[in-house]
Amino acid sequence: MDCRVPVTDRVHWIGVNDRETTLFENFWPLDKGVAYNSYLINDEKIALIDTVKFNKTDQFLSKIREIIGDKKIDYLVVNHMEPDHSGSMHAVIAAYPDIKIVGNKKTFEFINNFYGITENWYEIKEGDELDLGYHKLTFFITPMIHWPETMMTYDKTDKMLFSMDAFGGFGSLDGGIFDDEVNIEVYEDEIRRYYSNIVSNYSVIVQKALKRLSDIEIKTILSTHGPIWRSNPQIIIDYYDRWSRYEAEEGVVIVYGTMYGNTAKMADYLARVISQNGIKNIRVYDASKTHLSYIISDIWRFKGVILGSCAYNTHLFPPMESVINKIEHSGLKNRFLSIFGCKSWSGGGVNNLNAFAERVKWEKIGPSVEATCSPKETEFSVLLKIGEEMARAVKNNPE
Ligand code: FEO
Repeated sequence: MDCRVPVTDRVHWIGVNDRETTLFENFWPLDKGVAYNSYLINDEKIALIDTVKFNKTDQFLSKIREIIGDKKIDYLVVNHMEPDHSGSMHAVIAAYPDIKIVGNKKTFEFINNFYGITENWYEIKEGDELDLGYHKLTFFITPMIHWPETMMTYDKTDKMLFSMDAFGGFGSLDGGIFDDEVNIEVYEDEIRRYYSNIVSNYSVIVQKALKRLSDIEIKTILSTHGPIWRSNPQIIIDYYDRWSRYEAEEGVVIVYGTMYGNTAKMADYLARVISQNGIKNIRVYDASKTHLSYIISDIWRFKGVILGSCAYNTHLFPPMESVINKIEHSGLKNRFLSIFGCKSWSGGGVNNLNAFAERVKWEKIGPSVEATCSPKETEFSVLLKIGEEMARAVKNNPE
């Protein structure tokens, strides 16, 4: 049985799928699993690009042995130190004690602090070259995509970019490893969910990195998650470019927090009005039920955002608090925003959403509306106006 996955004659994908872990970083749901990608360059000198999470070490090491047998590995290039990629580092060093660990100054701080490894460091700087024989590797130091030590490795010979987390996404690789072997539409949602939740707060830095990468020819993008982009890497570059410029599609996301169903009733009414005004992409989420990451992903996708909350002991309903915190943390810009909600014996929902609106400085559509205990005709007439105005706004702003 030959399980090798060659990218070229000398470069192999030696990634692993993880469908057992429920939550990535113990927070983000992995309903569709995740792949930890690693790559082996079997040249005159042999180099490993990143490793995999600790729970997949055995499978990972046997993939290496299947390709190089008893040969030694000369270099372990560490593009990113988060443990889903560095978790097998100890095992690699145990199997290949002479291996040189290639990273930048920051990388070694993490290696020491995480694993106490202080030997065989091979420090590189921006633009240095590592000659493997046929392949000549060079390095782009790209701090804060999305950790301080993150860097990318570029093979000048075959124009391959080993991009660590950048251009990656959630979702296991179910047979298809390359972009031309899978239905990319299936992965797009999971790539955007990854970007909008994990990388998004560094969008300005992503834009700078994209400008630097635009000076080099890239034939293949090999991320640490998701498919390998060998047929049309421009697709994923364009996704990243659009998302990091906060571009959005025509559509409206309505997110609400409700205790007794009254705020939910207002959300449903708004959604119907928006639909009747010609918008087809409408997503309605109960913040208590749908994980934050899916909500943020759709808010990143669509131009219109409508937030609703009941009052909860003079505060925002807690699941809505999480939604607005994450939005603010992600730094998302250029959205239309409307606000609605319910109060009973105290306010706290709508006025906190209004304060959020002032902080994010998105364009406000319509007045905020707050019902007392349950929505009546007065509130429904305001919701009607909000829905009509929001539909008009998102239609007039195609991007
Ligand atoms: Fe895939 Fe930032 O770890």
